Order: sequence, then structure tokens, then C-alpha cells
Amino acid sequence: MKKTKLLFDNNKEFEMNIFEGTEGEQAIDISQLRQNTGLITLDEGYQNTGSCKSAISFVDGENGILRYRGIPIQELAENSTFVETSYLLIYGYLPTQKELKTFSNMLTENSLIHEEMIHFFDGIPPHAHPMAILSSMVNALSIYYPTLYSEAFFSITFDLVCARLLSKIRTLAAYSYKNSIGEPFVYPRHDLKYTENLLHMMFNSPVKPYTLDPEIVQALRVSLILHADHEQNCSTATVRLVGSSQVNLYTSICAGICALWGPLHGGANQQVVEMLEKIRDEGLTIKEVIENAKSKDNNFVLYGFGHRVYKNYDPRAKILKQLVEKLFNKLNIEEPLVEIAMELEHAALNDDYFAERNLYPNVDYYSGILYKAIGIPKEMFTVMFAIGRLPGWIAHWKEMHDTIPFKIGRPRQIYTGATLSHYIPIEQRG
Ligand code: CMC
Repeated sequence: MKKTKLLFDNNKEFEMNIFEGTEGEQAIDISQLRQNTGLITLDEGYQNTGSCKSAISFVDGENGILRYRGIPIQELAENSTFVETSYLLIYGYLPTQKELKTFSNMLTENSLIHEEMIHFFDGIPPHAHPMAILSSMVNALSIYYPTLYSEAFFSITFDLVCARLLSKIRTLAAYSYKNSIGEPFVYPRHDLKYTENLLHMMFNSPVKPYTLDPEIVQALRVSLILHADHEQNCSTATVRLVGSSQVNLYTSICAGICALWGPLHGGANQQVVEMLEKIRDEGLTIKEVIENAKSKDNNFVLYGFGHRVYKNYDPRAKILKQLVEKLFNKLNIEEPLVEIAMELEHAALNDDYFAERNLYPNVDYYSGILYKAIGIPKEMFTVMFAIGRLPGWIAHWKEMHDTIPFKIGRPRQIYTGATLSHYIPIEQRG
């Protein structure tokens, strides 16, 4: 084990281990630092803090690389299905034919939600954001399918809880959409595959039957795979932190969905399309938008650009851009937003501000446009991200629980408030 030393002014020193990951990344282990020196580390926004060791996905931000369990996402996008990729992430290896069949069957058997749970939707106003509905409904699964934390240690229970969640999230997402447009719910079909079933439940209607288009199914399949995991981002770290209190899986995932909703995280996909629509509708020039994004006098950022880890083109954005071009050509769709997006991307990539800060398109830049072409409304974009990210969240929850014993997540802080002061009775406060 490599070591490093911290030297203090009084010549005292503290030795720390350096942990090295399988891809050569190194981290100083500071877990004993306070005990030995009285110091903690301060890293607001966790810009330089590793919160765990994980074997699920590998991101090399400098070189634009993303792999799930060692496999490049390009290969999975090309050859795998979302269900198979989910298995890979959660269980750590590509399943055999038999294992995949058992897993798929479990998803099919668990696709319905409890009939009584459907009444939850009765009280939800049609304008409610689907991410608010989804997070609430996923948490509500713990009411209908109670699972004690300890049960999850028995693999059969974990497998069942995992299959329930993966399958039911799709049904809940589709029902949220149907609820928002006031249409009757469409039940899942046992003969349809994961992505097809999602489209069927979202778009089929008793008066307007929906025909599944293989190009659309394929585009959605790839998009779900590309979103399936991304190491310790805001929502995944949330799932681990909440799960570390030993609360059940549904509730931990609910917390992840809430974290994902924000516009700086998964909510950026909706923001991107709204930004492009604003450019189109208000006739803004690309130059104006770029100048606005660069200005420090407002809160506006170029949504879909920049990333904490990628200092290069996000490999997911690269694939999604190609997918958008392919799908629009195949379906012969004229969409001015695509042209605006490409013009904006070109302008940003050729601007010194973006170049100096290594700001490139991220996964959210083209995903919204892709969803729009599929017919998915804007409010549902982040829901699609959540469905895609679910296997990653589950995998991280499982990985943490498989490490026995694991520690509750509990960061420290540096207090900056008032020093000791005393209570003043109200009549003496003036
Ligand atoms: N537009 C304009 N300026 C930006 C942008 C942007 N999209 N992103 C970063 N910057 C600037 C930022 O103002 C800062 O400038 P300065 O050095 O002058 O202070 C510099 O670039 C470094 O950025 P940062 O804020 O330190 O970066 P961060 O790692 O804290 O934030 C981010 C990462 C993704 C929140 C940020 O890039 C951002 O707000 N992007 C737009 C929202 C977005 O697309 N989010 C989706 C992220 S990817 C998928 C996901 O996680 O869901």
C-alpha cells in the first residue's frame, strides 16, 4: 500500500494510505485524520471527495470514457438491451440466457401496480409535474409492498424488490402521463419487451391505437442504456446516503428521483428544450444566448453544457447526437430545434469562454430533442432519465449493502455561526 505524509508547522507528521483503483486513480485515505490531528477536510460541493469505493461504472472525464462493469457504453448501446444492461449493473456480470430469461420473467410478473394504489392518482391535479408524482408513487410502493431493510439481505427478497421496482417504475411513469392528459390508464402487456411496453402504456389509447415503430423503440432503448449509471453523481450519492440509514430500497430510490429532478442534474433535459424553444419563439440570436450564458450578472447557464467530471465531449452526448440525426432522417421529421441546437453547440465549442473551461455538451443536450421526436412531452423527459438511471441506483444501493458492515453517511461541517450566547427572555428583547 502506498503512503503519503502530511507535515505540520511544528514538524509533526501524519501518515496516510493511498488507495489505488483498478484504473490507476489514486485517493488519500483521510478517515483517521481527525482522530490523529484534529483536522477535518473541507470540500464544498464534493469537488474532490470520493465517498466510496465502487466497482459499478468507470468514468474518465478527461478522455470522455464511460464503462459499465468494464464494458464501454458504446458496445452496450450497440448490442445490449436495457434489461440485460440492468442485470449487468446490478449483479455485476452479463447474465446467461437462463438468468436473463428468469430476470425478464420476474419483470413481466411484477409489472402491474396494486389496483388500490391506482386511487392515489385520483387526488393528483392534472398539472402536477410527473417527477413529483413518480417520486411520491415510488415511495408509496413501500406502503403496498412493505420490505424491511433486513429482508433485503436475503437474495430472494432483494431480487423480488429489485424486479418490482424496475418493472413498476415504468407502469407508474406511464400512468403519471396518462393522468396528466386525462386519459384512462393502459395496462402493461406480458408479450411486450421493456421499452415497447413503456411506449405502449404511454401512447396507446382506446380511440387511437399506437403502432410500435422499431426505430423509436431502438432509440428509446439506447437512451435508457446510456442513462443507466454514472458513478457518484448527485442522485446516486443521494440514494447511497439515504440508504445508509438502513431505510428500504423504495424510499432510497424516491430520494434519488427527487435529487435528479433539479435543473442542474437530470432536470436539465427539460431545460434544454425549453431554452431552444425560447430561442425559436422569441427570435433570440445564438450570439445573444451565448453572451447571456457567459454573463455572471444572471443565473442563466447553457443547459446541457458542462459537467463536473467530463472535461471532454460526454460520450453519451456523442451517441445521442448521432441517434437524433439518424432518427430524424429515418422518420423524415422536420424539427427546427435540432438546427438551433447544432448552431448553439457549434458557437459554444468555438467560444473562448467554453473552451477555457472545457465545457462540452452533456447527456442532457440531445436527449430532450430525441424524446420530443419520440412524442414524449417535455415534462416527462426527466422521468425517462429516472427510468434509465434506476438500475444504477439499485446497483449502488446493493453494492453498499453487500459491504458488511457499512457506515451511515454522516459528513461533518465547519461551524461559522455565533459563539456561545444566552437566552434572553422576550420582554427584555425590546
Ligand atoms: N453555461 C455557462 N457557464 C458554465 C456552464 C454552463 N452550462 N457550466 C459551467 N459553467 C462555468 C461556471 O460558471 C464556472 O465559471 P467560472 O470559472 O467563471 O466561475 C465554470 O464554468 C466551472 O463550472 P462549475 O460551476 O464550477 O462546474 P460544476 O462542476 O460545479 O457544475 C454543472 C457542473 C453541470 C452543474 C454545470 O456545468 C451546469 O450548471 N451545467 C448546466 C446544467 C446541466 O446541463 N446539467 C446537467 C449535467 S450532466 C447530467 C446530469 O448530471 O444529470
